Amino acid sequence: MTSSLRESMELLNHLNIDANQSPYHGTSSMSLSPLNTSTEELMDYSEHQRSEMAVLNNLWYKEAIFYEVYVRAFCDIEGTGNGGLSGITNKLDYLHSLGVDCIWLLPIYPSPLKDDGYDVSDYCDIHPDYGNLNDFKILVKAVHERNMKIIADLIPNHCSEKHRWFQSARASRDSPYRDYFVWSDTPLKYKDARIIFLDVEQSNWTYDEMAGQYYWHRFYKEQPDLNFDNPKVQQEMLNILKFWLDLGIDGFRVDAVPYLFEREGTSCENLPETHEFLKVMRSFIDVNYPGRIILAEACQMPDEVRKYFGENGDEFHMGFHFPVMPRIYMSIMRENGDCLREIMEKTPEIPVKCQWVTFLRNHDELTLEMVTKEERKEMWEHYAPIPRMKINLGIRRRLAPLMNNDQRKIELAYSLLFTLPGSPIIYYGDEICMGDNIWLEDRHGVRTPMQWDDSYPNGGFSTSTKLYSPVIHDPEYGYERVNVAAAERDPSSLFNIIRQMIQRRRKHISFGHGSFKWVNSENPRVIAYMRICGIDRMLIVHNLSDKPQSATLQTHESLQAHYRNIGSANTSQELKTPKPPRRHHPSLGTEENDPNRTSDHFPSEGQFQDNSHVFHPHHPHFLSVTTSDDIQSHFLVDILTDRQLMVDFNGFVKVDLDPYQFYWFSMGEITTLGEGPKSRDLRRKSIFKPPSNLPQAVSNHSTTFSLKDMNLNIPEFHPHTVKSKIEE
Ligand code: NOJ
Repeated sequence: MTSSLRESMELLNHLNIDANQSPYHGTSSMSLSPLNTSTEELMDYSEHQRSEMAVLNNLWYKEAIFYEVYVRAFCDIEGTGNGGLSGITNKLDYLHSLGVDCIWLLPIYPSPLKDDGYDVSDYCDIHPDYGNLNDFKILVKAVHERNMKIIADLIPNHCSEKHRWFQSARASRDSPYRDYFVWSDTPLKYKDARIIFLDVEQSNWTYDEMAGQYYWHRFYKEQPDLNFDNPKVQQEMLNILKFWLDLGIDGFRVDAVPYLFEREGTSCENLPETHEFLKVMRSFIDVNYPGRIILAEACQMPDEVRKYFGENGDEFHMGFHFPVMPRIYMSIMRENGDCLREIMEKTPEIPVKCQWVTFLRNHDELTLEMVTKEERKEMWEHYAPIPRMKINLGIRRRLAPLMNNDQRKIELAYSLLFTLPGSPIIYYGDEICMGDNIWLEDRHGVRTPMQWDDSYPNGGFSTSTKLYSPVIHDPEYGYERVNVAAAERDPSSLFNIIRQMIQRRRKHISFGHGSFKWVNSENPRVIAYMRICGIDRMLIVHNLSDKPQSATLQTHESLQAHYRNIGSANTSQELKTPKPPRRHHPSLGTEENDPNRTSDHFPSEGQFQDNSHVFHPHHPHFLSVTTSDDIQSHFLVDILTDRQLMVDFNGFVKVDLDPYQFYWFSMGEITTLGEGPKSRDLRRKSIFKPPSNLPQAVSNHSTTFSLKDMNLNIPEFHPHTVKSKIEE
C-alpha cells in the first residue's frame, strides 16, 4: 500500500466510512448499489418499465439529457442585473418542457470572479450575486418535484488567492494552512507540466512576496493549486462534498481532475495518486449517498479518460468525451466522417454503469487541445477567420455562429450529439441559436444573458439597467429576433426540433445503453452507424454534405454478426418477470402525458395489464425469421418523421438524403409480428410506429407473408417473401 493510499484509508476511517466497502478491499463500488439489475437485463423492458428500472438502479444518468446553466446569465428575477438561483427556479418549467433531465450549475460559490467562479473563496456558501443557501434549497426542491436532477461544479484542484486558507498560508510559514498549497523556493520544479492558459500565463509558478516563496497554479495565478499530498486537504474536500450532498444535490461536475497531484519528471497530469484520491471520493459517495454521481472534467484522449472510470467502474460515473467534440465540427467542415470514425475506434469500452458525456459547446472556448497541430490550423482557418475568435488553443464562439446560423447544419450537429454514445449536454442558449460577442474579454463572449423574449431593453433577462454583460442585439442574433418566446411559437424552430429529438431519443434504450457499430457506406459524405441494445436496433445515417447524397449502407455484416451471436440458441424460454411499478418520472415523459405517444398505433398500457411476460432479448424466437435466401429482412422507420422509408432486402440499405439530412431508423423485425399479444408488446418496444396497415394475418404464429402484401409506402419496393420460423 502506498503511503498516500494508506492516508486515504485513514481518511475514510476518520469519516466513519466502512473501509471494507472501499474498492481497495476488492469490493466493487457497483455492489453498493441497492439493486443490481444489469444493463442486459434492463434491455428486456419497455421504455416505460426501463426508465423505472434505471431510476431504481441509480442509472438515471445513462439516459439523461443534461443542460449546462451559467447562473449569472440565465434569469434575473430580482432586478439586480445578474441572474441568480431564484431565476433558475423560475425557469424550470421551460427546461422541463425542453426535455432536460439534469441541470448542471456552473460555480455557485463566493468568488472574486477572476475565473468566473472557478476561483472559489468559500466552498460552503453561495455567491451573494446568486442568492443564498435557502435559495439553493428551494431550487433543489423544485428540481426534484419535477423529477429532474441537479449537479454543480466542484473545484478541488485550486481555490482563489482570496480564500482564507491561502491568505493565512502566505502570511506565515507556521500557518496551519501553509501546507494546503504547493510552495517552492525555485520556479524550476515540475517543468514538464504544460501551461494551460497560454494567452495569459507564462509559468505555473508565481512568486508571492509575502510568503517569500513561489506557489504552484495550473490556471490563473489568482488560483493557487491545493496540495493533495496533504491529507487535510483531502479531508476538506470530502467535507465539502458532504455539505452539498446533505443539501440534496445529485452530484458534481468535478473540475480539472487530472491536475490534483504533482510529481517531478512527469507532466503532472493523470498521476496514480490522483486516481487513488478520486476512488476514495467515489467510495465516500457510494457508501453515504448512493445514486449521486460524479462527472470528470478531464480534457484528455479517451484511453486516458477511461482510467477515470476506474477499472471496475469505481471512480467516476461519467466523463466528458472531449476529443469527439471538435471532430463533430471537423467532420461537418470536411464533409467527411473519417475523423469521427478514428476517434470512436480509439474510444475504449467503459464499465457498464459508466457513461460518456458529449457536448457541442460549453462555457469555455471550443477547445482544440485534442486535435493535431495541422487539424487545429485547419479548424482555426475555417471556424475562426477573425484573429479575435481564437483564444488559448481554441475558439470563443457559440454553436450557431460556428455553423453560419444554418439550421440544417445545427440540427445535424445535434443529431450527432444525440446519437453517438454518451449522455448529451446542451449549453444554455444554444437550443435557440443564440449568438456570441467575441469582443468581450476572456470567454465572456459565450456567456451573455439568455434571451427570453423580444422586450426592450434586455430581452426578458432582467429589468435592471445595469447588466453584468451586454445582451446580444445584432440584427442576426439579437434578442429581438432570437428568443425563447419566438422559438416556442415556431414549430420548426431549433428549440422545437431538439425537443422532439429528445422525446424520440427517450424511447430507445440503444442511445443510453447500446453498443455502437459503424456501418460501411461507400459514400464518404454519408456516415452511418448502428446503436443496438437487445431488441432495440437503431440505424443512424447522416449526410455531412450541403448537396443531396445517396449511399448504399452495408448493414449486412453488423446485423448478421449480431444475429449470429444472439440467435444460436434453439430453445424457447420465456422469462417471467413481475411487471415493474408504473413510472413516475414526468421528465422522462409518461406514456399518458407524452404528446408523441403512439396510442393510436399501439395497444394502450391497460390492455397489457394481464401480460406479465417480459421477453428475454436473447430469446431465439425473435430472431429466427429468415428470408428465402437466408438473409434477415427489416423495414425501417425513421423515428423523427415516422415514415417507413425502405426495406433491407439483401443486407444493403439504399438511402437518399437531402443536404445535411439525417435519419434515425428503428429497425423493426418482421418476425416480431407473429406472436399475438406478446408480439404486440414487442412491437411497442422495437418499432416506434409500425405501419398502421399491417394485415391481421400476420398476427398468427408461423405466418408466411409478403412484404408487398403489407403495402408499405416504400420507394422502389421489391416484393420479397419472408417466412417466419417461429416454433413453440
Ligand atoms: C475548466 C473550466 O471549464 C474553466 O472554465 C476553468 O477556467 C478551468 N477549469 C479552471 O478551473
